[in-house]
Amino acid sequence: VIATDITPRRQAEEQAAAQAERAQTASRLITMGEMASSVAHELNQPLTAINNYCNGMISRIKDQQITEEAMLAALEKTSKQAQRAGQIIQRIRSFVKRSEPNRALSDIGTMVSEAVELAEIELRRRNVRLSYYVAARLPRLLVDPILIEQVLVNLMKNASESIDAADRPSPRRSVELRVVPRQVEGQDAVEFSVVDTGQGLAPEVLERLYEAFFSTKAEGMGIGLNLCRSIIESHSGRMEAENLYNGADITGCRFSFWLPVYQQPNEGAARSAEQTTRIPG
Ligand SMILES: Nc1ncnc2c1ncn2[C@@H]1O[C@H](COP(=O)(O)OP(=O)(O)OP(=O)(O)O)[C@@H](O)[C@H]1O
Ligand SMILES: [Mg+2]
Repeated sequence: VIATDITPRRQAEEQAAAQAERAQTASRLITMGEMASSVAHELNQPLTAINNYCNGMISRIKDQQITEEAMLAALEKTSKQAQRAGQIIQRIRSFVKRSEPNRALSDIGTMVSEAVELAEIELRRRNVRLSYYVAARLPRLLVDPILIEQVLVNLMKNASESIDAADRPSPRRSVELRVVPRQVEGQDAVEFSVVDTGQGLAPEVLERLYEAFFSTKAEGMGIGLNLCRSIIESHSGRMEAENLYNGADITGCRFSFWLPVYQQPNEGAARSAEQTTRIPG
């Protein structure tokens, strides 16, 4: 009799825990003031890119050093970033309205290369090398790709700012982005991590990392990580941060997040059919 009673009680407990967790996540979602700051913050990246491409074209036209083809390529990149700016406004607006993220099955390689393209401008400016590794055969993720790309860009930007702040010599100015499969509580997930060689996280910074408007930078708004964590949690994932050590010395830090892989019933069927046909003999 006791054994049969336990199941509904445990279910109720699990339900209550899940509800509490949802409430906590929702309360972390940003307020109006934070939303205005987030939009401003995120728009900086495509605007910087547009400004860069335009300045490049201007100086090359002045030097009469640009072919029509190169000009077209630069204009296409400029236009792509302007479109992205529009998408960012739209996605952040709907994200803050607490509606579900605008999810679609998204290719991880594409998200990584779009984020890298955007972050590279900032990294190059700070003389920081970027390398990235994306494991083979990762599944597509049911996410809003624009939002996940924003998270990656923010993490890479923080990484390069920290390397600059630590004033590392050039062999030690590097950021590595890695994307690998991972299991979380027995479920398939994909882990993204950004490792830097910067100054690392002091205990008082670690404590307030995700607080809105907390920044140790003269020009920082302090909204980047707050937005990142909200985005990841709205996709049912989690973010983590840790220092990296060489003996007792902090050599940098590692920000990572994982996102769950949703098993699409149709995709699963298609995949197993594909496997059967591949079995030789
Ligand atoms: N990779 C990192 N290495 C060291 N410290 C970091 C790193 N990333 C974040 N921090 C610390 O966390 C703080 C909050 O980061 P967050 O991205 O939220 O704001 P910010 O970078 O200061 O400003 P913003 O992103 O709004 O321009 C930073 O000011 C910095 O002190
Ligand atoms: Mg930041």
